[in-house]
Amino acid sequence: MFGNTPPKLTTDLAHLEEKARETLSAEAMGYIVPSAGSGATARANREAFDRWRIVPRMLRNGPERDLSCTILGTEMPAPVMLAPVGVQTLAHSEGELATARAATSLGLTYTHSTQASYSIEAAAEASGDGSRWFQLYFPNERDLCVSFLERAKTAAYSTVVVTLDTTMLGWRPADLDRGFLPFLAGSGIANYLTDPVFAGSLAKPPEEDPAMAALRFAQVFPNPGLSWDDIAFVREHWDGPVVVKGILSAEDAKLAADNGVDGIVVSNHGGRQVDGAIAALDALPGIADTVGDRLTVLFDSGVRTGADVVKALALGAQAVLLGRPYLYGLALDGQQGVEHVLKCLLAELDITLTGAGYTSHRELSRESLVTA
Ligand code: FNR
Repeated sequence: MFGNTPPKLTTDLAHLEEKARETLSAEAMGYIVPSAGSGATARANREAFDRWRIVPRMLRNGPERDLSCTILGTEMPAPVMLAPVGVQTLAHSEGELATARAATSLGLTYTHSTQASYSIEAAAEASGDGSRWFQLYFPNERDLCVSFLERAKTAAYSTVVVTLDTTMLGWRPADLDRGFLPFLAGSGIANYLTDPVFAGSLAKPPEEDPAMAALRFAQVFPNPGLSWDDIAFVREHWDGPVVVKGILSAEDAKLAADNGVDGIVVSNHGGRQVDGAIAALDALPGIADTVGDRLTVLFDSGVRTGADVVKALALGAQAVLLGRPYLYGLALDGQQGVEHVLKCLLAELDITLTGAGYTSHRELSRESLVTA
């Protein structure tokens, strides 16, 4: 993979963040790295992984290894996908285009965020014949929602992922301290927006101006009244699989199944929404036990290594989504950087699985792990 020269970027994905910090602007790092509030949820995500240990078995592998899988009709070379991440031009000028190209070059599935810097169509073109899913933030204007879904359908996105956990942006001090006040729209302290500077802007947002576009965003996306009826609305307007993202309780997982969705992502948004929330990995086993036979169960939040992927799959996920690490790769080396991160994760997954005595991730189960 790397020949005899050292790789340009570290292969230690857990430490890519430090490298990215050395090159990224304070603005970019302020958006990408931090979490909600005190950061307790993001820390809990990592601590949850550390509480599980893999129990390697010896001398039982055949020579063949197989990481491939089919998730909701999408064929994947490994149970790893790219999580939806917004405004990727903060990390690199080619943003989502570089990410989509990297995903396609490795056969992995790219998920396009409603908040992306590049359009649904431009990212689809970059993704080419690769597989792609579309992530929907359900706006508080239904016509806009239908328009997003139609554009995604036309641009050959196969699955829609409706994010449930961000009906208002979380309390993210790093952004707030930089004056990114659209976060406050719709919140109990919306009186910030009665400041004359903002009040005028909200009335007439000319979208060519980025600041005004941000304010238009602040008008359209806070949607705290989002309900299961809205998910039924998406179901009616989308022919392919519907996934809901941000499930952390078995009760909600059951409701998802009852409301006709095809899959869920067990996720706390990488700790960026509810500070003090349950670690996503701690929520996973109970949810998988409850709905694993009715729904496709996917997982994200805190995945940094191949061993993490093994643990999430053993605890009931069928595939994982990777968030920040590929953004760090993007920031450090564009498309090549994303490819580097993904290749490292897949190689480490393969090596870890083989070392632990498995020829395929499908053989993993709770018995593959013990608690530390
Ligand atoms: C996100 N995430 C996210 N999720 C989503 O549904 N739509 C979005 O637009 C975004 N945007 C976004 C931006 C940034 C900078 C980050 C870090 C994350 C959440 C993302 O899909 C995923 O849930 C988490 O990133 C997973 O956690 P890790 O892997 O970052 O720990």
